[in-house]
Amino acid sequence: MTKTSSFTAPKGVPDYVPPGSAEFVAVRDGLIHAARLAGYGHIELPVFEQTALFARGVGESTDVVSKEMWTFADRNGESFTLRPEGTAGVMRAVIQHGLDKSGQLPLKLCYAGPFFRYERPQAGRYRQLQQVGIEAIGVDDPALDAEVIAIADAGFRSLGLDGFRLEITSLGDETCRPQYRELLQEFLLGLPLDEETRRRAEINPLRVLDDKRPEVRELTANAPLMIDHLSESAKTHFEQVLGHLDALGVPYVVNPRMVRGLDYYTKTTFEFVHDQLGAQSGIGGGGRYDGLMAELGGQPLSGIGFGIGVDRTVLALAAEGKTAADPARCQVYGVALGDAAKARMVALAGELRGAGVSVDLAYGGRGMKGAMKGADRSGAKYTLVLGDRDLADHTIGVKEMGTGDQRQVPLGEVVGVLRDALGN
Ligand code: HAM
Repeated sequence: MTKTSSFTAPKGVPDYVPPGSAEFVAVRDGLIHAARLAGYGHIELPVFEQTALFARGVGESTDVVSKEMWTFADRNGESFTLRPEGTAGVMRAVIQHGLDKSGQLPLKLCYAGPFFRYERPQAGRYRQLQQVGIEAIGVDDPALDAEVIAIADAGFRSLGLDGFRLEITSLGDETCRPQYRELLQEFLLGLPLDEETRRRAEINPLRVLDDKRPEVRELTANAPLMIDHLSESAKTHFEQVLGHLDALGVPYVVNPRMVRGLDYYTKTTFEFVHDQLGAQSGIGGGGRYDGLMAELGGQPLSGIGFGIGVDRTVLALAAEGKTAADPARCQVYGVALGDAAKARMVALAGELRGAGVSVDLAYGGRGMKGAMKGADRSGAKYTLVLGDRDLADHTIGVKEMGTGDQRQVPLGEVVGVLRDALGN
């Protein structure tokens, strides 16, 4: 076998390494926490599923399914696909395990992890992307739509993010969408469109409204909009969602031209957009998908959820010059001089960790100067300094890194002293 001198991660697949990985974890956990506050339980799913699940669930004509899936045959020739999104897999698991029949509705689920789309990599667009998502299944209540949206909004704000806006619209339901689709198609096919766009208008007319080319934008400027053709019930539903958002204090703008990249959406549909991210400005999106469960072989239950892009949220925070992570690697750093002191310090580190205090030590006998440099770099609030003479006196030096003040504390009391000082 030939030896390769170096390996790199696959193109468009990010690594999360320190110190930046702390930011990634803080963002992901902050978003999950917002969902926990509303009673969403954790669901952990496989990263690959039968290909047909996504084809049926997400829609054959979407870019995600037709162009971006990582699909492979296993050793038996069965086709599997790395999950491009989370909703179809959640529905599959709910149906398979009968979760919709065993407890109270809505069934509320939250997930986090990697998803895979074979897109052209660029800033904020990866082939392996990370999402935090939630799904609320089994109740079609506008207040639940508002809750889902408010969780995303609160999650972003809990991280300190505020330069984003929520765009929202209604894509109607089975009583008004087919008629609207026909109306839009008729309008589009009457336009002087190029061959490919015409074909798109035939397969999935809504996608044409998402065309970014100025000439197409101009042609479709007066296209009929779903929001003007909603059934009475879809219209009332949408108005109630907006009313609940007002009551929750969640700001939004109605964007009737919004088109989502997945086919399962009905009624409420939304996107969170951050203006400082350039072309890849969508930091999260979601909506209602009332036909999906039945489409995948389950009972006809409604659902609503979102997927937030953790990578893009990290980028958005950086663009706002903010940070969600505590830059310190540990709270306490231990420096020991001499063999006996070293042995005591190693044991003390164990005691401190047992008391819930995070500790790192100077390893490798670097001498006082090198060890104090390590203490600075660690970001620790306190440095412990222990020499053989302190050991004989049963005391230890506790240095507060912020002020530089150092005092001697009885060795037997140092765990309690630090725990109190750190508020652990
Ligand atoms: P989505 O809009 O396709 O929705 O993805 C959600 C978020 O994932 C996007 O807003 C974006 O922040 C992030 N994202 C998507 N593709 C990439 C990429 N290539 N690189 C970096 N970030 C990316 C869904 O996936 C739906 N399952 C959301 C949902 C849940 N709807 C209802 N329930």
